[in-house]
Amino acid sequence: MQFFLAIILILAINSFVESSSSSSVQQCFSKGSEGFKGVTYEYIDSAYNANYMNPLTDQLDQMTFYEAGLFSADYINGQVFYQYRRNENSIWEEGKLVAFKSNGTQYFLDSLDGGNCSVGKIDPETQFTIPPLDLVSQGTMGGVNVDFLEYPQTNNYTSNTLIVNSDNCYFMSSNCHNTPLYPAGFSLITFYNFMDEPDSQLFQLPPQCWNLNLDSTQSIQKYSKSISNIFPNIGKY
Ligand SMILES: *[C@@H]1O[C@H](CO)[C@@H](O)[C@H](O)[C@H]1NC(C)=O
Ligand SMILES: *[C@@H]1O[C@H](CO)[C@@H](O)[C@H](O)[C@H]1NC(C)=O
Ligand SMILES: *[C@@H]1O[C@H](CO)[C@@H](O)[C@H](O)[C@H]1NC(C)=O
Repeated sequence: MQFFLAIILILAINSFVESSSSSSVQQCFSKGSEGFKGVTYEYIDSAYNANYMNPLTDQLDQMTFYEAGLFSADYINGQVFYQYRRNENSIWEEGKLVAFKSNGTQYFLDSLDGGNCSVGKIDPETQFTIPPLDLVSQGTMGGVNVDFLEYPQTNNYTSNTLIVNSDNCYFMSSNCHNTPLYPAGFSLITFYNFMDEPDSQLFQLPPQCWNLNLDSTQSIQKYSKSISNIFPNIGKY
C-alpha cells in the first residue's frame, strides 16, 4: 500500500500542476471522456442486492458485498487496471485485473483461484472510456460544489448517477440503484486520492501472467465479475 501511496503522491503533484490550467470546465463529461487522459483512484464500494448481468449465465443476478481497491484507466491507449479486496458472504477475496483494448485481452488473478493468472477475451463491445453524461442537477457535498451526472439509460435494471467536483470534474461518489421494476438494491462508491491521469506503471503484467496465451484460457468469469460489470465508468453502454 505504501508503494501505491508513493506513486499516487508523485502523480498527484504532476496532475495538480496540469489541472490548474483547466479551471474553466463548463459541464463535466458532456462529451464523455473526450479531453481526459484517464483516471486513477482508490475507492470503497458497498453494495446491497445490486443488480448486475452475470457473465456466466447472461442472467440478471444480485450482489451484496463490501469492497476496497485501486483503479486506473488509460482512455487514450485503452488500458485498465483494477485491484480489489472484497468481502462477499463473509468470504474475503482479493485480486487484480489488467485489460488491454489493443489485443482484446484481460488478465485476472484472484485469491480464490490460488492466485493463478487467467487470461480471457474482452467482450468487443466493452468501452474503455466514459460515455457522454447528462447533467441532472447541481449541489454541494461537504462544502464542495458538485454536479450530478447521469449515465445514458442502456438497461432497465439499474440507474447510475456519478457525482463530480464541478470545478475539476474529479469523481466524488457514484450511486447506482436497482430500478423500481426490481427488488431494492444499490451500490455506493466513494472515491479517494483521485487523479485525472492513468498510472502507467499499474498496467505492467504481473509475473504470473507472463507467457500465457489465450489457448490457456481458464474460466475468467468464474471469479471475476468481468470487466463490463465492474464499474459504472467502464463497460458496455
Ligand atoms: C496484450 O497486450 C499487452 C500490453 O501490450 C501485453 O502485455 C500482452 O502480452 C498482450 N497479450 C496478448 C495475448 O497478445
Ligand atoms: C493453480 O495452478 C496450479 C498449476 O497449474 C494448479 O496445480 C492449481 O490447482 C491451481 N490452483 C487452483 C486453486 O486452481
Ligand atoms: C427490460 O429490458 C429487457 C431487454 O431489453 C427486455 O427484454 C425486458 O422486457 C424489459 N423488462 C421490462 C419489465 O420492461
